[in-house]
Amino acid sequence: MSLLAVRGLRKAFGGVQAVDDVSFDLAAGEMLALIGPNGAGKSTCFNMVGGQLPPDAGSVRLEGREIAGLNPRAIAAHGIGRTFQITATFGSMTVRENVQMALIAHHGEVWRFWRPAAVRFAAEADALLAQVGLAEQAERATGVLAYGDLKRLELAVALGNAPRLLLMDEPTAGMAPAERVALMQLTRRLATERGVAVLFTEHDMDVVFDVSDRILVLNRGALIAEGDAAAIRADPAVREVYLGTGAAGGGH
Ligand SMILES: Nc1ncnc2c1ncn2[C@@H]1O[C@H](COP(=O)(O)OP(=O)(O)O)[C@@H](O)[C@H]1O
Ligand SMILES: [Mg+2]
Repeated sequence: MSLLAVRGLRKAFGGVQAVDDVSFDLAAGEMLALIGPNGAGKSTCFNMVGGQLPPDAGSVRLEGREIAGLNPRAIAAHGIGRTFQITATFGSMTVRENVQMALIAHHGEVWRFWRPAAVRFAAEADALLAQVGLAEQAERATGVLAYGDLKRLELAVALGNAPRLLLMDEPTAGMAPAERVALMQLTRRLATERGVAVLFTEHDMDVVFDVSDRILVLNRGALIAEGDAAAIRADPAVREVYLGTGAAGGGH
């Protein structure tokens, strides 16, 4: 059985059918890219899987259990995590404290703000920081990190919740090309090691082709192609959307 099974997902905003009958499966440890032009419906799909938006119709099953329409907290509790921008609120906390906070929340404990030298899960936090290459930065205030390091911290925080599926909507936005490759290769390695499935979107097609097991292509809310990098590269419908040159040979 697949880890995640999405069937007939639909969402309209006013007259716009943002997501139009989308179905796909995702296996444990699999790295699945959801790509498509701006406005294709990618974020709307992420938001329906993550619980930020209720679907108009369709089913989202995690290991057979229906989660469509549940709130984000309940969906997170079922094992679906998201990477979000680390907010300025926690900028004065150290890098280690940010990860400890995620670990504490995951274990159902309460973060004690009045105990600044919190020792809970410090070793686990350091292990995660080492995995994302931030061991040296553990004592620094989050607010002074370079942007690329902040993104790696975001990944460590997400993994602190021990998700089985990680949703990453444009995780490398604003990063330099070399950093994009590095962050997604790191994600790829950690996903494999931990058996975590990843659903992500990324504008840089080289990065997508490099790290994905499989790629879904969305256009105007509907899936138009699905396959590995070679299949997607060669797909006439995908070439039409991205390059304006389809199988009919019509350049326009
Ligand atoms: N909250 C919203 N209210 C109205 N329209 C929305 C909303 N969110 C997305 N849309 C519209 O739905 C379509 C898909 O958007 P989105 O899922 O953000 O696409 P993508 O992430 O692929 O760029 C677009 O036409 C967008 O304008
Ligand atoms: Mg988007």
